Amino acid sequence: MYIYINEASHHLGDEVEIRGWLYNKRSSGKLHFLILRDGTGLMQAVVSKKEVSEEAFETSGNLTQECSLIVTGKVSEEPRSPGGYELHVTDVKLVGKSEDYPITPKEHGIEFLLDHRHLWLRSKRQHAILKVRAETAAAMREYLNSRGFVNLDTPIFTPNACEGTSDLFETEYFGGSAYLAQSGQLYSEAAIMSFGKVYCFGPTFRSEKSKTRRHLTEFWMLEPEVAWLDLDGCMDLEEDFIVEVVARVLDRCAEELKVLGRDTSVLEKVQKPFPRITYDRAAEILKEKGADFTYGTDFGGADETILGESFDRPVFIHHWPADIKAFYMKRDPNDYSKALAVDLLASEGHGELIGGSQREDDLDELLKRLKEHDLPQKYFEWYLDLRRYGSVPHSGFGLGFERTVGWICGTPHIRETILFPRLMHRLEP
Ligand code: 4AD
Ligand code: MG
Repeated sequence: MYIYINEASHHLGDEVEIRGWLYNKRSSGKLHFLILRDGTGLMQAVVSKKEVSEEAFETSGNLTQECSLIVTGKVSEEPRSPGGYELHVTDVKLVGKSEDYPITPKEHGIEFLLDHRHLWLRSKRQHAILKVRAETAAAMREYLNSRGFVNLDTPIFTPNACEGTSDLFETEYFGGSAYLAQSGQLYSEAAIMSFGKVYCFGPTFRSEKSKTRRHLTEFWMLEPEVAWLDLDGCMDLEEDFIVEVVARVLDRCAEELKVLGRDTSVLEKVQKPFPRITYDRAAEILKEKGADFTYGTDFGGADETILGESFDRPVFIHHWPADIKAFYMKRDPNDYSKALAVDLLASEGHGELIGGSQREDDLDELLKRLKEHDLPQKYFEWYLDLRRYGSVPHSGFGLGFERTVGWICGTPHIRETILFPRLMHRLEP
């Protein structure tokens, strides 16, 4: 009977077949200890010379790292085997050989590993990170689906910028130009006027010329957008969302987080309420801590780290100088110089996880903003229509998915949190 390794506990004493790859092997005279992996876990298989055919014993002795194989044997409990179960082998078949596998147990440089990303994925650590990624995505979708958010997918080819023109990817489009989407937000704003609350979750693109550990050129963003929601409501939603998602990942990915050596006490502290401070207060904190920061500018990576480390859980920074924020953000009616914007910064130097805001819902104000930002009105006529026909107060946010996974896993660089990272100097494999 063919089973997966993570089903072994249901087959104690049964003769089963495991199909997988050879993770590791050690031999001592009449015994070969094979460590198998099949995607669901690792398992030790013991090949004893007196219990298998001569041919099977010889095959076992010649198996090399990452060859694919089918192993038949009896399942028994063995606390020293990874996963707690062991296979007493009756037969071994080599399926696909693997000679001179490039990634050996010795240390490799990061560029070498990235060049071999297609193979690196098989390592324990990469497997764990990507499992956490998948679980995090599922948790996020479930949170929103179970609260009546409608998942709608926004376009990737766009005629205009959403988040500023400096890092747009331009592509030829039938004799004209198109840009790869930096965010689905503007389209989701149209969708909420039909559905009330929606979210999009897909790849977004920025030709970031910065080579930092927090930037990819292609990354995934989860963007909820909600009609009749103000800035405070937006923070409430983000907070509740993060707390629930982190709790579910802690619960379902305990094994993976252990493999990653993650200090989960940090994640257990992710409880309501998150501190909420203004940009002005954040600027004071930076000054108190001696950061090289100019009031009125955006925070740099180092500033975000200092701010993130000033609190034991994620921190909201709201009421930003309007001049440095996107055109669609609503101004504070009590202080016109400030935008009703909020960033959520992670602890431990993982930086900005979420950017959100209340959107400008007034037609004339929005027209002014487009002019100030030098954006061509003709491309935004459809967006302006949303203010012409039944405008409502509304808010939303965009969560950087890889940064969030990196924070949950405690990985310093987000390049490990996506299957095949796209970076300024890397488009392959
Ligand atoms: O703050 P940003 O630019 O916000 C928006 O795009 C809004 N339109 C979202 C919205 O309100 N619907 O980007 C959102 C998040 C950031 O907080 C960050 O976590 C992530 O996206 N992000 C990146 N992640 C990886 N690589 C990059 N180059 C990123 N740029 C932004
Ligand atoms: Mg931002």
